[in-house]
Parts: sequence; C-alpha cells; structure tokens
Amino acid sequence: MSDTGTKMLVINGSHRAEQGFTERVVQAFVQGAEAGKAGCEVLYPARQKIAPCASCGKCLFETPGACRYHDDMDAIIAKMEAAELLLLASPVYFDSMSSALQKMIERLRPTFGPYFAFREGRTYHLKSREQQQKAVVISTAGNPERETFVSISRVFNRVVKSMGAQLVGEFYFPASHFMVSHPELLAGQLEAVTMAGKEFAADGSISRELLAQGNKEYVADPERAVQGISRMILEMRERYRLEQEDN
Ligand SMILES: Cc1cc2nc3c(=O)[nH]c(=O)nc-3n(C[C@H](O)[C@H](O)[C@H](O)COP(=O)(O)O)c2cc1C
Repeated sequence: MSDTGTKMLVINGSHRAEQGFTERVVQAFVQGAEAGKAGCEVLYPARQKIAPCASCGKCLFETPGACRYHDDMDAIIAKMEAAELLLLASPVYFDSMSSALQKMIERLRPTFGPYFAFREGRTYHLKSREQQQKAVVISTAGNPERETFVSISRVFNRVVKSMGAQLVGEFYFPASHFMVSHPELLAGQLEAVTMAGKEFAADGSISRELLAQGNKEYVADPERAVQGISRMILEMRERYRLEQEDN
C-alpha cells in the first residue's frame, strides 16, 4: 500500500483470485481508485494462511481482543485497521460469499470487542474502537438473474455494519461468463465501476448515477443465457475429452 493518498484495502474472496471473473470487476474499480490517488492493496484470502475460528472464546475471556492463532490474519487485521476505504469482493457460492472470505471475516471476531448493543432493531458487536471506514462490495455470479444477489447483498450489508463500516455502494455482475462471451454487453457497466472507484477514492462516496450505471441490466434473456451456459459447458467437456484422447 502506498504511503500517499487515501489507503484502500481490497479483499477479493474468489478462490480463483487474480484469474477469476470477480477480479475483472475488482480491477476496474481499483484502476479508478488509483487514478483518484488512492493507495490500493489487493488481498486474496484464498492465498492466505488463515485458520478457521475455533469459537474457543479465548479472545473474549483469556486474552481479550487477541486470537489464539497467529497466522496471516495478524497482518490482515493490521491492514484493515489502517485502511480508510475498504472493498470487499466475492463470487456468489451457494447464495453466499466464498468460504475463504467467510473464514477471514469470522477471524475478525477478536476485533469486535466482547460486548453487544441493541440498536435500530438489531444486535451489534460493540467494537473496541469506532471506525469511520467507508466500504464498497462487489460480487459476480454464474446465474443470469439479479435475484441471485439478494442473499449475498443482505449478508454484505449486515457484515459491513457489524464491522463498524458504512456501505456506500454495491456492484453485482450476473452471468459472469458474459465477460468472456459477450464483453461488449457489460463494457459500460465496468466503465461505471472504474469511475465509481475514482469517486470513492476522492471522498468515500459514489453517486447514485454511477451505482445505477454499474448495475445496469445486461442480460436480456436469462433463459437463453442459461441455455448458453449449458452449451458452453458441454463444448468445454467435449474439448477436454478430445485433448485427453490426443494425449
Ligand atoms: C462452489 C461454487 C458455488 C457456486 N454457487 C453459485 C450460486 O449459488 N449462484 C450462482 O449464480 N453462481 C454460483 N457459482 C458460480 C460463480 O459465482 C461464478 O462463476 C463467479 O463469477 C466466479 O467468480 P470467480 O471467477 O472470481 O471465482 C458458484 C461457483 C462455485 C465454484
């Protein structure tokens, strides 16, 4: 992370990390944020050594605020606390975030403090220190219908609030294979994501116009898109079979 400009930490939960579809959207955003002079660092939880939370309670009772494990989470937590802006990204895996990102978030438990509060109809962890972080979330999914993002959006909204941050924008890209098969259909949306990154870096906000443009529908016929996915998989399997025969 550079020492100049606003510090933005990017966490891409894709198990395919730099190779994935999620990364394409993440990089569009980062490109804008860097043009807006943010110092960005991208982390991939799938590449980090992170033990699963043992729910042992040590961070509550024995060593308040500190986990029993010392692995890559120590550095991740330090980076998260130093960041002014946060971008969380994940592909949809069975209607939620990836297990790599989920595992990382569970290990934030020690930072949330031991006490709870009931505010505006829900329970919060009372964080040991108040954060003024602004956050954005990005997700991609194989399914073509936007309904697919309903549950991950709900989870992201609640988790970001639990983290004491303010969620200022969400960008969702369905039918992620369109990034390869029909890139022209979502070029405008990716451009909007880049512009949103620049706005976010400038003052931690994103205009309503860019949020709408970035989430503009590009799948005209979800049923046809699903047939396309099945056809694509059949073709890939056939190619794979022929390659195996050749070898
Ligand atoms: C384990 C697993 C579960 C998935 N579950 C869903 C799902 O519930 N809904 C969906 O639309 N796509 C699902 N997908 C597809 C991914 O969300 C989609 O391909 C995404 O763009 C992958 O992003 P990545 O290339 O960054 O990993 C799943 C993929 C995997 C590997």
